[in-house]
Amino acid sequence: MTKRDMSHSGKTSSRAADERVLILDFGSQYAQLIARRVREQHVYCEIVRHDITAEQVRRHHPAGLILSGGPSSVYDANAPRCDAEMFRLGIPVLGICYGMQLACEILGGKVESAPAREYGRAHCTITDTTDLFAGIPGEMDVWMSHGDQVARVHDDFVPLARTRTCPITAVRHRRMPVYCIQFHPEVTHTPLGGTILHNFLTLICGCAGKWRLGEFAQETIGLLRERVGAGRVICGLSGGVDSSVTAALLYQALGSRLSCILVDNGLLRKDEEASVISEFSNHFQTDLHVVKAEQRFLDALRGIRDPQEKRKRIGHAFIDCFKEEAAKIGDAKFLAQGTLYPDVIESGAAPDGPAATIKLHHNVGGLPDELGFELIEPLRDLFKDEVRRLGSELGLPDDLVWRHPFPGPGLAVRCLGEVTHERLAVLREADAICVAEIKAAGLYRQTSQAFAVLLPVQSVGVMGDARTYEDAVAIRCVNTDDFMTADWTRLPYEVLAQISTRIINEVKGVNRVCYDISSKPPATIEWE
Ligand code: XMP
Repeated sequence: MTKRDMSHSGKTSSRAADERVLILDFGSQYAQLIARRVREQHVYCEIVRHDITAEQVRRHHPAGLILSGGPSSVYDANAPRCDAEMFRLGIPVLGICYGMQLACEILGGKVESAPAREYGRAHCTITDTTDLFAGIPGEMDVWMSHGDQVARVHDDFVPLARTRTCPITAVRHRRMPVYCIQFHPEVTHTPLGGTILHNFLTLICGCAGKWRLGEFAQETIGLLRERVGAGRVICGLSGGVDSSVTAALLYQALGSRLSCILVDNGLLRKDEEASVISEFSNHFQTDLHVVKAEQRFLDALRGIRDPQEKRKRIGHAFIDCFKEEAAKIGDAKFLAQGTLYPDVIESGAAPDGPAATIKLHHNVGGLPDELGFELIEPLRDLFKDEVRRLGSELGLPDDLVWRHPFPGPGLAVRCLGEVTHERLAVLREADAICVAEIKAAGLYRQTSQAFAVLLPVQSVGVMGDARTYEDAVAIRCVNTDDFMTADWTRLPYEVLAQISTRIINEVKGVNRVCYDISSKPPATIEWE
């Protein structure tokens, strides 16, 4: 049986736990954003279920608690609640939006549906700058997103701020360290949100901000050495950031006792295999096994057009290749995976939590339990941006660290219709041009994902004096915080023009380029 070692995660955070903050998740789309903002202040934090008991909270010894927003109304019969004892632990609490309404209601106030649902920017007047709003001017812009608001608070609360439509925008309890704000400090539309969170963490929770990625890396390296002992770890490389950083961290810990497997499935982006080989066999000198398996994958995909079937077949072929190569390595007991904190939260920490329904399952490329390894997931406490920073600290090149995410099934889900060697070659070239032009325009890091899609559609064109009947390529470029929702990037026309001209001129077989202007939802980021 593969063992998912949860204790590893707990241990890696042990030192940072001096200053741990817990975020109770009431189903907010922003819970992860709150966590990232807290970590940006160098305070370690974890997202936990809203129904964690006060006793469980006490055992974590958190420096502070944040109650997230959420889509419910506190007066609904099955609205998520928290243990009321929480407020009596003496641990500072910050309630945000729904978190505010719940705290105020539990502590004797009343929440009502607002006369008008308030969504967007609001002008806020600060009436008390003692602690939460220290250093904040009398007026500031904030981001609101609520249908309910606190209509009345218990006498024990002191008002701190108001807006024109929301008289009780922020409050503090007189005797308990409980603070509440109706707006969202975690979003960039609240420009001074960072200062407010900083005030809560430092002035109210007394955090010194000791959480550092460098320390995390050293601590993790020590723990990995302890756990693996004289054993060997296998790590699958995909060309992506997560697996690369996992391997780099393991390499620092274990050196030659790390074996990496790269399955070249013929579905990788242009030059991707070469860059992984150069990084991991030349720079890090790991024991790198490259499995040349293009034909095997193409055979599995022959004649298949259905997206789900493609994913299934690729998944099976990947497991077979990996298994065969791992068997050759022999003495390995551990398997490393680049699981990140968002994957952990979305797939288990809050399985019945209110946000659970927006979870994504992208398990193609995952490995089954029966391989018999013990699982090592050294990044499971980190967010993507932290993983990128860690990758840079570990010496990975920018090109790898800042690479856009790439799906496990690779170019196959961007090659609509049948996947053949020839069609993949066309797509790979078009994709490389698309990415190169976005990089040349200095927009690569500002966009979350950009790629080309080869459509199963031919159209008529004219080249020179001749009529053509060739393929169409779609360009997809999106911006997103969490990949669960995304908007299409407003790329400048000049960049789009350059991409289109180059693809049509340089990629044989393509005579038309379209730009995908669909947001997610209702579309997804990938086309299949
Ligand atoms: P969608 O298309 O669902 O994609 O909006 C959201 C994000 O997930 C990536 N993606 C995958 N990643 N295996 C992966 O590892 C997959 O099967 C897979 N499918 C989609 C996609 O590229 C985007 O970043």
